[in-house]
Amino acid sequence: MKPLILSFAIVLAAVAGASAADVTWSQQIKPIVDARCTSCHGADAPEYPAFKKAKEGWLAKGIGPRMDTYSHLIYYTGWPDTGALMRRLDDGASRDDKKPGNMYQYLGDSEAERQANLPLFKAWVGSWNLKKFDALTKDDLAGIKVAY
Ligand code: HEC
Repeated sequence: MKPLILSFAIVLAAVAGASAADVTWSQQIKPIVDARCTSCHGADAPEYPAFKKAKEGWLAKGIGPRMDTYSHLIYYTGWPDTGALMRRLDDGASRDDKKPGNMYQYLGDSEAERQANLPLFKAWVGSWNLKKFDALTKDDLAGIKVAY
């Protein structure tokens, strides 16, 4: 086996046994975010309300809202930007039209890497819900774990 494929195999093996209880921001999620997201969602990126206010300008620079810390990222899971992380990262499997979210592509350079990283986010979030806040039940919300 090539080393790259071997490392995916190890990750997959680890993920197979992963549950919301053992995937944490510090251990598994931050390294992925640092490597794959912060070039556009880093410390220089705006807070979400500021991004929304001047969206065209940020988009012209290819910069999205800030998501490089635990506190920033969980904003896009339960509330207030409910389900945004899940809708954007989903590979389409959770949708009727099977269309992946537009940030799924950044989860890896290959489909194997994307498919290895997605279950980590799913396990970290807990209840992987693509719904907007109004459609979310209290149980859906309580299922969001986002361990630090
Ligand atoms: C090449 C730049 C780039 C990379 C890399 C990137 N993003 Fe994005 N992202 C953007 C831009 C620009 C937007 C705003 C435009 C849009 O909504 O699509 C965005 C929007 C988002 C949103 C939606 C925020 C909202 O408006 O609700 C989420 C969630 C997100 N990104 C997550 C991620 C995650 C997680 C990663 C890493 C796996 C990532 N992105 C990697 C550029 C990027």
